[in-house]
Amino acid sequence: MVVLGFRAVRNLALAAAAEDVFTSDGGTLGQTLWKHSLACASVATLLAKADRVSAEEAFLAGIVHDAGKLILFDAYGENYLEVAGGLPSEQRIAAERERFGTDHQELGLRCADEWGLPMEVADAISNHHDPLDAEDFRGLVDVITVANGLAQHWGVGGLDAREIDVERMVHQSPLNLKLDDLTELQERSLEGFDTLQASFAN
Ligand SMILES: [Fe+2]
Ligand SMILES: [Fe+2]
Repeated sequence: MVVLGFRAVRNLALAAAAEDVFTSDGGTLGQTLWKHSLACASVATLLAKADRVSAEEAFLAGIVHDAGKLILFDAYGENYLEVAGGLPSEQRIAAERERFGTDHQELGLRCADEWGLPMEVADAISNHHDPLDAEDFRGLVDVITVANGLAQHWGVGGLDAREIDVERMVHQSPLNLKLDDLTELQERSLEGFDTLQASFAN
């Protein structure tokens, strides 16, 4: 604990608890989502380091950013997958709202409150598809938004790679990220993902 620091230990404990929730209670979606969450956490940690955002909070926010999807899956099962599965982010949020009266960002925020997560992590969860709506903690929100997009685009974590306009995303983001950095970032993210996956395997 002294070596790692309190926040690192707390975040690892939370991540281990999250793994349990995703992989034992989340059914098929939970397994896929857990890998995607590790992938997002891996990219987010690297982006945070380059942007003077806390890498520990970025890791934690990456792990739990889509927790709201588990709640929807738990409540609506296959129905949720039919409504939202395979849709691009913006359409998914709209579809969730229309069909279930809420969306996975809103439900993720409730989880964050319940679990007593730091405010900036809660803010990143509740705005990761609409970073412009976040007011107070833009740094971490932007890290999670871009990490989520890149993890999906690169297909890190076993999801099918998704077509995303990376150039536009990088230009629109206030992060300290350049297109030239992406190849190295992708390699390091994959390595980080492998290391994370190995360290959570039991
Ligand atoms: Fe999401
Ligand atoms: Fe995501």
